[in-house]
Amino acid sequence: MINKNITHMNDNKDDLLASAWNDKLTEDYVEQWGELLLHKKIPEFCNLLPSEIVLDIGCGSGAAVRAIASRLSTGHVTGIDPTAKMLEIASKLTVKDSHYQRVTFLLAGAEKIPFESESCDLVLAVNTLHHWVNVNDGLNEVLRILKPSGRFVSVDDLWQESIEYGQEQADDNEKFSCKHELKTRNGIVKLLNKNGFTDISNSEHREPDATASIITGYKA
Ligand SMILES: C[S@@+](CC[C@H](N)C(=O)[O-])C[C@H]1O[C@@H](n2cnc3c(N)ncnc32)[C@H](O)[C@@H]1O
Repeated sequence: MINKNITHMNDNKDDLLASAWNDKLTEDYVEQWGELLLHKKIPEFCNLLPSEIVLDIGCGSGAAVRAIASRLSTGHVTGIDPTAKMLEIASKLTVKDSHYQRVTFLLAGAEKIPFESESCDLVLAVNTLHHWVNVNDGLNEVLRILKPSGRFVSVDDLWQESIEYGQEQADDNEKFSCKHELKTRNGIVKLLNKNGFTDISNSEHREPDATASIITGYKA
């Protein structure tokens, strides 16, 4: 059951695009990929400040949200996800965490974010951009809710080298409704450019068990 102290359901369910993630896919995903060393590195990847207001879009079971919360003093972190089962797992795991007072979860997708304009310092997307139903709408929402000079950070697997892009991957893309072109660093950089982000940086983090592409773009 969802913990009502930290999870709030979106009042307007019509705003929510259908999630491609059923309960079985969700549970299998969380068991295998839900809590990685990578998630612990996220505050460092984002140059997080302890006072920042942070939104994690497509937060899944909340590992990045918990890593961020553990570094906040006066700030707050909200995780949104359109998959109710993800939030159920996220809230169960987070309520055991000593930093949970700095955390909120909301049932919502990237395409309609229940936040006021110019309210966030940092918006984060970890392994999720290629799942969004409408990526351009989602990024417009990111720009709307970021404060001037706020930043968007996309953290993703290094797909090109970690996997053979063969039939198995194509099947996976189909199963999870993934956008193939957003599984490359260049694809993400192009997308941020096209959507009006500035000062885009593109780097890789390499460590055993934690390799990632980190792409940051700013609101002008
Ligand atoms: C691969 S999982 C990553 C979860 C989490 N960020 C992590 O690192 O473990 C992708 C997530 O994107 C979410 N998602 C799917 N469609 C979305 C959308 N339109 N907007 C935001 N998130 C979405 C899924 O529900 C799922 O939790």
